Amino acid sequence: MLNKISETKRQFFAAAEGIKNSKELEDLRIAHLGRNGTVATLFEEFKTVTPEEKRVLGKELNLLRQELQAKFDELKEVIESSEKLSAPKIDISLPGRVPNKGTGHIVAETMNEIITIFKKIGFSVVTGPEIESDKNNFEALNFPADHPARDMQDTFFINKDFVLRTHTTPVQIRIMQTQEPPVRAIMPGRVYRNEAINARSYCMFHQVDGIYVDEKVTFAELKGTLVHFAKEYYGSSVQYKFRPSFFPFTEPSAEMDITCFICGGKGCRVCKQSGWLEILGCGMVDPNVLKYVGYDPEKVTGYAFGMGIERISMLKHDINDIRLLYENDVRFLKQF
Ligand code: DAH
Repeated sequence: MLNKISETKRQFFAAAEGIKNSKELEDLRIAHLGRNGTVATLFEEFKTVTPEEKRVLGKELNLLRQELQAKFDELKEVIESSEKLSAPKIDISLPGRVPNKGTGHIVAETMNEIITIFKKIGFSVVTGPEIESDKNNFEALNFPADHPARDMQDTFFINKDFVLRTHTTPVQIRIMQTQEPPVRAIMPGRVYRNEAINARSYCMFHQVDGIYVDEKVTFAELKGTLVHFAKEYYGSSVQYKFRPSFFPFTEPSAEMDITCFICGGKGCRVCKQSGWLEILGCGMVDPNVLKYVGYDPEKVTGYAFGMGIERISMLKHDINDIRLLYENDVRFLKQF
């Protein structure tokens, strides 16, 4: 029986050398250390030997069982830890998932930048309703009924007396009717025009108007303010020019052009090869408007200006279709 013990030991250790995974290890355990394994069989046989033999064999058998168990435990640890290492891993160095954060819409951002520039030089911010009286939208602004100048702005009529405002200029009337001079404010907001929708025009867009009325306000101040704005918004190297224009509510009226910031004035697709971009309309508040709101045009003068936000942001970011701003395609929006 001593031979059987050493043979079992030899077999076990020889087999243990070749174990590659926990399945093979388990098979080895069942074959030798299991309930019907070689060791258990030897213990069965042990019951049949003489008491003298038992003294020697008992020791040997117990030793065999301990050695095999120890080798098994050692192998189990090695194999389990190597299997753990080769199992699919969690890569803890991967960057985390970034939550999908929204961003300000490009039109709102442009509006805020413009507001910030004017706030810093003493303009307050005033808003008015989008449904506006025909009076404030046209008549008070010196567009008499049936005057052809009304055709400059295709209008959505709510009824005979109310319209969706076609510009933010009527807020000037609201401010002046409720406040004595001096007034100095900018008026951002949404406006509507009944125009065919295409790459250049949309039925709804945004404007910012500005007004300053006080004693002795001059056209030179208007220029100074707008040049300051252009330099703040487009950079101090921007060049500009004022062209005579016409608006019923200003006299004289002008439009401001700046050098095209895409081509630097050389001429390109955006500026239609002219090197210049028109950015706003402006002028001295017409005495008829001052009279309408109860101001005395002999005592006070004022300047006003207005610009389209979409146009300004489209020029700045080289966007060639206004409809992109309203389709809410995040692939487009998140670029800004
Ligand atoms: N309201 C004009 C428009 O929608 C823009 C404008 C021009 C506003 C001159 C003004 C201004 O306040 O003085 O085209």
